Amino acid sequence: MNHPTVNGDIPGHLLRVSDLAPETLVAVLDLAAAMKEEPLGWADSLRGAVIGCVFEKPSTRTRVSLATAAHRLGMDALVLNRADLQLGHGETVADTTRVLSSFLDALTMRTFEHSVVEEMAAVSTVPVVNALSNTHHPCQSLADLLALREHFGSLTGMRTAFIGDGQSNTCNSFLAACAASGMHLAIATPPAYETDDDILREARELMARTGGSVTLTTEPVEAVSGAQAVYAEVWVSMDKHDQPDERAERAERLARYRVDDDLLDHAAKDVVAMHCLPAVRGEEITSEVLDGPRSLAWRQAANRLPTAQAVLHSLITTARRRAS
Ligand code: CP
Repeated sequence: MNHPTVNGDIPGHLLRVSDLAPETLVAVLDLAAAMKEEPLGWADSLRGAVIGCVFEKPSTRTRVSLATAAHRLGMDALVLNRADLQLGHGETVADTTRVLSSFLDALTMRTFEHSVVEEMAAVSTVPVVNALSNTHHPCQSLADLLALREHFGSLTGMRTAFIGDGQSNTCNSFLAACAASGMHLAIATPPAYETDDDILREARELMARTGGSVTLTTEPVEAVSGAQAVYAEVWVSMDKHDQPDERAERAERLARYRVDDDLLDHAAKDVVAMHCLPAVRGEEITSEVLDGPRSLAWRQAANRLPTAQAVLHSLITTARRRAS
């Protein structure tokens, strides 16, 4: 089998979806699709390399998909929790990164403030992959796009909706993914949780070139009207779990923003329901939808592995080529 290659504009690091030019994003998805067909076809390509996966928050999908992706490329993966590193005991992010990047072939980081992964990328001598920050979740969006492309055949011109917290990392990254792919996104949020102006502006600038669009509304029914994909997201993100007052306020404000079968009945006939997981069943999405025939969530989750493989392979092989 001829393996597709990702040529050209591979960034040094993947911190946000917008680090990938639209054509590069398609090439990464093509590589991920090929890796899904032939998971061990690249088993020798990065033999002997090692990645470090630093986690400052819990993770199931991201942690296991990155480690498994590394193994499938012939690499070892070190999964490192903050508390076990000197990072958790006062050593700075920059000092930690300088040292780890002198040992390793790539670093992945799940953290709170997005500035942390930017700080890492500024001093790292190897690629840094954002495994989720408070504002961006690019690895999730690549899996989302692959799942949509597999299901519908193409992405350009698709109508989609996001229901809930328009400031969440999942929404921000899905918006950027829609922008790069020429898709139309309607975001329904309570007024307090509208998507940040800078993130909207960046998406709209790209959409002017790709043909996509983004609209904002407070009405879930209006957002899903005609949508082929409806995205639900947890009401309380990981960074707010220790804030009981915030939880209560969000549950009240977001109560109308649940993705259930009634809401989906206002969407296109072929609609799929999306969720990045983990879900709080009965809050932002019902079990009937998540487990039902319109759910794309399990395919999104499964696609975390081949997309992680494609990201690691593209970034590491490109970094090596540039260094040689
Ligand atoms: N969707 C996602 O990032 O899942 P985890 O938090 O389990 O990694």
